[in-house]
Amino acid sequence: MKDGLEGVIACETKISRIELVDGKGILEYRGYDIRDLARKSSYEEVAYLLLYGELPKRYELQDFKIELAERRELPPQIIGLLTHLPPYTHPMVVLRTSTSYLGSLDKKIDVKTREENLNKAKNLIAKFPTIIAYYHRIRTGKNVIPPTLELGHAANFLYMLSGEEPSRTAERALDMDLILHAEHELNASTFAARIAASTLADMYACIVAATGTLMGPLHGGAAQEVMKMLREVASPRRAEEYVKKKIEKGERIMGFGHRVYRGIIDPRAELLKRLAKKLSMEGVPRWFEISEAIAKAAYRYKRLLPNVDFYSASVYANLGIPDDLFINIFAMGRIAGWTAHVIEQYENNRLIRPRAKYVGDKDKKYKPLTER
Ligand code: CMC
Repeated sequence: MKDGLEGVIACETKISRIELVDGKGILEYRGYDIRDLARKSSYEEVAYLLLYGELPKRYELQDFKIELAERRELPPQIIGLLTHLPPYTHPMVVLRTSTSYLGSLDKKIDVKTREENLNKAKNLIAKFPTIIAYYHRIRTGKNVIPPTLELGHAANFLYMLSGEEPSRTAERALDMDLILHAEHELNASTFAARIAASTLADMYACIVAATGTLMGPLHGGAAQEVMKMLREVASPRRAEEYVKKKIEKGERIMGFGHRVYRGIIDPRAELLKRLAKKLSMEGVPRWFEISEAIAKAAYRYKRLLPNVDFYSASVYANLGIPDDLFINIFAMGRIAGWTAHVIEQYENNRLIRPRAKYVGDKDKKYKPLTER
């Protein structure tokens, strides 16, 4: 047995494919290369693809976009929750608490027809950005900005967060980032969602499991940690010394390494690097310059390559997104993949219940309390 279930095939899926071919990482959603989707598609189109298994026709995409836009507003109970949570609550804790609360408001929580599963998935995809933006405005003492039907998924989120319509570049950047985060086979949070689904727990319970799992710094929490590192390094000149010290102390450098893309670059990181560079030309160049210096040093000292979380940090910083919302942006993208996996699990289910190899003491004699 390998620690961390490395290399273990735990289920079959038709949702995404990761393969390492000739030293390159291939990532496909439902058979479509991530590079094509990132360049040519939109987050809504990718969410449709993940949920329904096929690219939408023009009218299907139009209907899907309208359907998502109309589901963006939150029930008053959720807005009440967001105003009552202490303002120091981490936005990921807010997201998972709100997801659970949405479940309690859903009278069909236990209905698992295909139609109802898709209904719940679309609701969660549509509402995640609103929960995140509303909570951020409430905790900073500002009025919430209701969603608008006029803007696409990514642009509407940036609008609800700042109150200003984003530039075309900013909209496209977030849209592409969400596409790149939408799905990634059996990563830890998706696995958590599938385990919950395999017990036939409701969709909200599965997504709470996934959001809780995403939060850790070895998974989705890495981008927030990368930003902390960029701030600490503060100048490209200090990157080498920082990396060297970390490696000498045997510490991890956040945003590097990957369980599946071992020794090869994460294809999402390549695309995000280009995006980060483009945004830095219009925003704060420093974040990209420091990132590049860290990437060079990490490769030189330990042959480490960046993963999806590394360049996401400078992309988000240049989009004006606060550091502690970075994991939430990951969740905003991944919710499409999570819900697609929950539905796939429901539709071909067998309880996921592996075994553990026991390595503790055996055959001990029970002593009564008075003798211990
Ligand atoms: N910094 C320094 N050394 C590293 C790093 C890193 N970020 N990642 C891997 N290594 C080293 C590790 O120390 C080990 O070296 P050695 O063989 O000398 O002991 C070797 O690479 C193999 O590492 P591992 O522990 O077997 O790798 P893993 O597959 O268990 O862990 C990982 C994968 C992503 C948790 C790990 O690379 C890591 O901790 N990275 C930093 C956190 C991070 O960026 N997470 C985001 C992952 S991608 C997006 C997502 O899924 O959320």
